[in-house]
Amino acid sequence: MNSPAPIFELKNVTQKFSSFPSLTDINLQIYPGERVALVGSSGAGKSTLINLLNGTLTPTQGEVSIFGRNLTNLNSKLRRKVQRQIGTIYQQFHLVDNLRVIHNVNAGKLGHWSFFQAVMSLIYPLEIETALKALTKVGIPEKLYERTDRLSGGQQQRVAIARILVQNPVVILADEPISSLDPQRSREIMDLLCQLSEDAGKTLISSLHVVEYAFSHFQRIIGLREGRIFFDAPVEEVTGEMVEELYRIEPQDGEMGRWGDGERKKNPI
Ligand SMILES: Nc1ncnc2c1ncn2[C@@H]1O[C@H](COP(=O)(O)OP(=O)(O)OP(=O)(O)O)[C@@H](O)[C@H]1O
Ligand SMILES: [Mg+2]
Repeated sequence: MNSPAPIFELKNVTQKFSSFPSLTDINLQIYPGERVALVGSSGAGKSTLINLLNGTLTPTQGEVSIFGRNLTNLNSKLRRKVQRQIGTIYQQFHLVDNLRVIHNVNAGKLGHWSFFQAVMSLIYPLEIETALKALTKVGIPEKLYERTDRLSGGQQQRVAIARILVQNPVVILADEPISSLDPQRSREIMDLLCQLSEDAGKTLISSLHVVEYAFSHFQRIIGLREGRIFFDAPVEEVTGEMVEELYRIEPQDGEMGRWGDGERKKNPI
C-alpha cells in the first residue's frame, strides 16, 4: 500500500536571523492525522519551526513543502489558499480583547470572507450559528456575546480554539498553547485539542514545555536541541534518558557544571 503524501516536508532547512542559526539542517516529514509534540529547552527552535510550518517564515536555506508545495514559489493568492489550511494557536491567544467573543470566533472566517463581509460582520455578526456551534464544541456557548477580555485565560484559549474550528484547517499548529494556564486548565485544553484532532482527523503539532503532555497526548515526539533535531521518534520509543539528555545543561569551559562536581540535573522536567 502506498503511504500518503506528507503534509509537511522539510529538506535541509536552516533558519538564521543573524549570523547565528536558530535551526540547522532540519529534515523531517509530517503525515496527515499525526499528533506531534515539539519539545526542547527555551531557545531550542520550537517556535521558529512552527513559524516555518505555517509560512510566517521563509527558510534561509533548504526547502519547506506544505501539501507538496513550496510556498516561496507560489503567488500570494495561492499562498493564502495553502495557509488557510493551517490554523495556529499561540500561548497569548492572539485575540482582540475589546471585541465580543463572536467576532473573535468568526475571525476564523476572515480568510474566506470578502473585505466587505468582514467589515459588515463587525456590525451585524454573520454566521452566528457557526460561531455558536464552535463555542459549544469547546464548552463555552454561553460566552457568545461576552467581551473577550472578561473571560479567564482558559476560556480565552477556548475562544482561540473555537476560531480555529471555524477556520476548519487541515492542520492545527499550537505554540505553547498551555503556558499561560494553570495545571487544571492546561489538562483541559490539551484534552480538547487532542480530541478535536482525533475526531476530525486533523494533524496536530504542538510545542510544549511540560514534557509529560508530550507522552500522554501525542504519538510522536521531536526533541530539538540548539536548533537541531536531537531525536524524532514514536512516543513509545522515547525514553526518560533521551529526555534527560535533551535538557542536559552543558557546563561552560572551566565550570564544574551547575550541579557541582560534574553531577547532572537528574530531572530536567
Ligand atoms: N525574530 C527573531 N529574530 C532574531 N532571533 C530570533 C527570532 N526568533 C527567534 N530567534 C532566535 O532563535 C532561537 C530559537 O528561538 P525560538 O523562539 O524558536 O525558541 P523556542 O524553542 O521556541 O524557545 P521558547 O521555549 O523560549 O519559546 C533563539 O536563539 C532566538 O533568540
Ligand atoms: Mg517558543
